[in-house]
Amino acid sequence: MKHKRNGSGGIRGTLTEFCEFGQRPSNSPRSEIRNLKSDRRFLLGVLTLLAMLASSCRQEMADQGKFAPMDYSAFFKDEGIARPQPTGTVARTQFHEDPLLYTGMQHSKLSPTFPFPITRDVLKRGQQRFNIYCAPCHDNAGTGKGLAVQSGFARGPSSFHDDRLRQAAPGYFYQAISNGFGIMNGYAAQIEPTDRWAIVAYIRALQLSEHAVLSDLPDPDKKNLEAAQ
Ligand code: HEC
Repeated sequence: MKHKRNGSGGIRGTLTEFCEFGQRPSNSPRSEIRNLKSDRRFLLGVLTLLAMLASSCRQEMADQGKFAPMDYSAFFKDEGIARPQPTGTVARTQFHEDPLLYTGMQHSKLSPTFPFPITRDVLKRGQQRFNIYCAPCHDNAGTGKGLAVQSGFARGPSSFHDDRLRQAAPGYFYQAISNGFGIMNGYAAQIEPTDRWAIVAYIRALQLSEHAVLSDLPDPDKKNLEAAQ
């Protein structure tokens, strides 16, 4: 065939150029083909070696001596790898200096008060968190008819404006947020304790807003409202 006779062009020529890094001087087309073959073998060898190296790296990382949590171990008397917490120590996540802030309880009862003063900023924060985390189900006003509920809940939440929930202690709401309530999930993982209280404070503001009477308003607002009527 024509391209076999031609030493510098055609398919073979291109291949030769491709493998140029291993090129040895070639006298005849035959020895050139032999060189090409050994170059290819060399390439294959390098690739195989690389593949072996790569897999052996993985082995070392995956199979190193280590224990998974709660593994068995004959080393300790209780045959478990997990060690009991040393007496008198506290893990960072367990350090709850202020039980009211973290549990919503006071003297073994749902707390009737908040663990910190409720300022305008706290309420604003509560409003923002409420609208993100609660409004999808409880709706922005807390009536319990949020979009998610409208889209197919068998049983929606009660309105926060029901008498029962208007009488409920702040600790009751704090616990519902932290631990969940009935089919509602808890939000302890997503919402910090201080933010949970801020949300409770905002729920109180929502409840007040639905039951406010004229005498609740400051004097200037009362006058404005009366003038508008
Ligand atoms: C995915 C929907 C959904 C979200 C989001 C949600 N809730 Fe609920 N919530 C419910 C449902 C449904 C119930 C009623 C559960 C039941 O009765 O089994 C409920 C019940 C409650 C109750 C108890 C009311 C009662 O009847 O005593 C409180 C308090 C409450 N939610 C507060 C919150 C707050 C605060 C947030 C935001 C941090 C929130 N919920 C987020 C669906 C939701």
